[in-house]
Amino acid sequence: MAPHASRRISRVAARLLAASPAIAAAHFRVESDPYDPIRNPNGYINLGTAENRLVGDLLAPRLADCSHVTPADTQYAPLHGARALREAVAAFLSRGRRPVAPEDLIIVSGATGALDVIASTLCDPGETIIVPAPYYAAFDVDLAGRSGARLIHARPTDRGGGRFALAPAEVEQALARARAEGITVRAVALTSPHNPVGCVHPPEVLRDLLQVAADHQVDVISDEIYAHSVFGPGEYVPLAEVKDSPLPVERIHTVWGFAKDFGLAGFKVGVLHTVDPEVRAAARELAYFAPVSTHTQAVLTRLLSDDRWVTEFLAESARRLGGSYRAATAILDDYAIPYTPAQAGFSIFTDLGRLMPERSFAAESFLWAALLETLHVSVLPGGLFGCPEPGWFRICHTTAPELVGEALNRIGRHVATVATGSTAVAGRRSS
Ligand SMILES: Cc1ncc(COP(=O)(O)O)c(C=O)c1O
Repeated sequence: MAPHASRRISRVAARLLAASPAIAAAHFRVESDPYDPIRNPNGYINLGTAENRLVGDLLAPRLADCSHVTPADTQYAPLHGARALREAVAAFLSRGRRPVAPEDLIIVSGATGALDVIASTLCDPGETIIVPAPYYAAFDVDLAGRSGARLIHARPTDRGGGRFALAPAEVEQALARARAEGITVRAVALTSPHNPVGCVHPPEVLRDLLQVAADHQVDVISDEIYAHSVFGPGEYVPLAEVKDSPLPVERIHTVWGFAKDFGLAGFKVGVLHTVDPEVRAAARELAYFAPVSTHTQAVLTRLLSDDRWVTEFLAESARRLGGSYRAATAILDDYAIPYTPAQAGFSIFTDLGRLMPERSFAAESFLWAALLETLHVSVLPGGLFGCPEPGWFRICHTTAPELVGEALNRIGRHVATVATGSTAVAGRRSS
């Protein structure tokens, strides 16, 4: 019998099965049994998922105005995005910045889809993408799952720029090592602003990264899905707009989407911006497999059409994000739980190492399970994000303040218990 006859599924399918994203699994598990102080006090509190649940009241009336269905909304639209939505998104992305052309946008199902499209466009199976760590955990699947690319982690730095800051020198070393080993590197991929750390990369650091990419002749994929979710003083600069970039703009591919800045995660609409004609043409073809419903595109076109609403919505959203970040970090401060200061995004990268009997990834995984099973709180371990140091967890704070308070107080009380010498949640099984 031929060796492949016993294999029922393809290599790609097997790879996807093996790499099923832990983020999604944790989300659906806890969302099926949500905590409610009266109706379900034993349910789970989800601080693992990066959804902005603070802006629903702002969105609801606007969506009601935008959601009617016209006959055109029931028909096929161009599969890489309806012209009207690409124009509206281009105008949105151009606000106060260099103009973005609608022709350079590819609209697909989620930023997830956009990452898959650009990785599959740039990489053949076995080729490599360098990711500065910690990195967005789903890059493992989004960039590598279907394309067959491999990810190589570049370590962060804590020299200046803050803990886990983007370190172009480390990216350079990872590139040089890969090259020395004969590995073909096609791109560097980063999140900007950073998920999970929440920092805004200074323009000079981004410029250094572009220099490294130019020196090694690789492309850069910049996931800027949190572009308008900045609440700190740092100024977010799109990678494609860094001044005096040594890397031609054709080699910079930017991903954005409606999930974060507009709190519309469930709409699953992502955008790829690429000006290289060949990459763009290939990406358009791949978009065929992940188009967005014509009606959803129409709703978003109408949503963006009111410039004043958009400006006010984004300003209010940033205000609420900042408020919720400050409330959550105040609780962490009360329990003396360390974290890296954030300026953007929905999460706080928090050091729960004190709850572990030792700093190891095994202990971190055990603590993750213990927090879920014992405290009924879902947060995500840094190991999923390629964090080089065990003990760090991503805690999302952008849900109802009572839930955030309840969950952080549960964690804080445990930290306090450990500090007074009682058993850590992570130590229970072995005791
Ligand atoms: C950095 C980053 N990129 C992409 C995504 C996925 O976005 P979408 O839901 O539009 O696929 C997320 C969602 O958490 C994210 O944080």
